[in-house]
Amino acid sequence: MELVFYGHSCFKLVSESGKKILIDPWISNPVAPKSVDMGPYDYILITHAHGDHLGDVLKLARTSVTEVVAIHEVQQFLLKNGVPKVTGMNIGGTYKLGELVFTMVPAFHSSSFPDGSYGGDACGFVITLEDGTAIYHAGDTGLFYDMKLIGELYGPKIAILPIGDHYVMGPREAAKACELLSPEVVIPMHYGTFPILTGTVEEFKKALSEFGVKVEVVELKPGESYKK
Ligand code: NI
Ligand code: MN
Repeated sequence: MELVFYGHSCFKLVSESGKKILIDPWISNPVAPKSVDMGPYDYILITHAHGDHLGDVLKLARTSVTEVVAIHEVQQFLLKNGVPKVTGMNIGGTYKLGELVFTMVPAFHSSSFPDGSYGGDACGFVITLEDGTAIYHAGDTGLFYDMKLIGELYGPKIAILPIGDHYVMGPREAAKACELLSPEVVIPMHYGTFPILTGTVEEFKKALSEFGVKVEVVELKPGESYKK
C-alpha cells in the first residue's frame, strides 16, 4: 500500500493489488509537487463539491477507465459535465468492489458547486483495502462526536485529517478527533495551502500530548509518500 500526498486534501492511494485511487483530485493546487501522476486512475473519490476538492476531476476522468465515486448531487453534476463513469452514493452506504471497499461517512461542513448551487452533503470516506486495512479520509469537516462510531465500526488504522483551521478543524479539534477515532497513524492535511489555513503540525502534536492521545503523526510534504 502506498499513499502519496499531492498537497491540500489530494492523495493518491495504490492498493496491494495495484488499484490506483485519487482522493479529492485538485492536483493543480498551489503546493502540488512538480510531478504528479495524471492517471488514468481506477477510482477518483470526491468528498464534496467545493472547488478545492472537485479540483481537476473533469480533466482526469474523461474516459470510462476511471470510475468516479461521489455523493448523488456531485454524481449528477459530473454526468452533466461529460464524465462518463460516475457512481453516486450517500452517507452511511458501503460500495464493495471485490476486495476493495468504499464507505461514505458524514462530514460536518457545507457543500456547493463553483456556481453556488447546492452540492449535496459533504462527506468523508473510509477505504478498506484488500488486506482489511482501513483508511479514513475525513474530507473537510469540523469535529463531531460520531467520529467515535467511525472508529468503532471501521477501525481505521490510518486517519487523514484536516488541521488547517478556519474552514475545517484546527489542531486542537483534530487532536480530539484522534482520541475519538483511535488510529495508529494520522496524516495531517488541508493546512498551509493558503495563508488563512494557519494550523500547523507542531500545534497538532502539542495538542495530542496535551490530551494524552497516543498516535503516530506522519507529516508528509507534497510529493512525499507513506508506505506500508
Ligand atoms: Ni470545503
Ligand atoms: Mn476545502
